[in-house]
Amino acid sequence: MTKQDNLEVKRFAGVAAAGRVEDGMVVGLGTGSTANYAIQRIGERIRDEGISVVGVPTSYQSAFRARAAGIRVADLTDCPEIDLTIDGADQVDAAFNLIKGGGAAHTREKCVADASKRILIVVDGSKLAENLSVPVPVEVVPYASALVAQHVRALGGVPVLREGVKKDGPVITDNGNFVIDCAFGIIGDPAGLGTRLNTVPGVLTCGLFTEYQEKISVLIGEAGGCRILTRR
Ligand code: 5RP
Repeated sequence: MTKQDNLEVKRFAGVAAAGRVEDGMVVGLGTGSTANYAIQRIGERIRDEGISVVGVPTSYQSAFRARAAGIRVADLTDCPEIDLTIDGADQVDAAFNLIKGGGAAHTREKCVADASKRILIVVDGSKLAENLSVPVPVEVVPYASALVAQHVRALGGVPVLREGVKKDGPVITDNGNFVIDCAFGIIGDPAGLGTRLNTVPGVLTCGLFTEYQEKISVLIGEAGGCRILTRR
């Protein structure tokens, strides 16, 4: 699939997800290229259909995009209960465990996911896998990054400090922290690994989302349309 085709299927997924937003909803706004299409489309629906939506962004990027699209923005303090969140993912397994954080936004994304009644994950088909296997982003307090890397190695992982693009040195998250991408190969026990990573001193949040399967549906963009997966 070319990069353009990939963006097109992401757009299908984002637009279809925005179609599920109802008048009066508080909507969690995910981060990334697929979620951006949903944000754009929600803004168009507010303008064209007059629906009323409050958006709770998961990053500076989604807040900027939402405001530009004409979506009223609130934070988790104003809206601790969210009707529906639309967000992307880096990988989705057969049990609806997720790896997130490709955009270094997974801490806020997890807060918003936790506050949400329902979560719609928007992806292209390349993100689906039987088992999770892409590197797990781990947001860490800079002071503890070497300590965290040592723990990751002890857990059998290969830690790589994420470097900036058009910024020398490490990526700094919206929360002022570093991100360590941790490769573990195929992850046999995502929930167990998530618990171990999240309890290392200095870790803020790891990108394994294993506790929200019951409220997740997955909307997959494909050539010519979309399909939705829900848990039985
Ligand atoms: C950001 C994320 C994104 O949702 C994830 O990286 C997917 O991004 P994209 O839709 O651009 O492929 O977790 O932290």
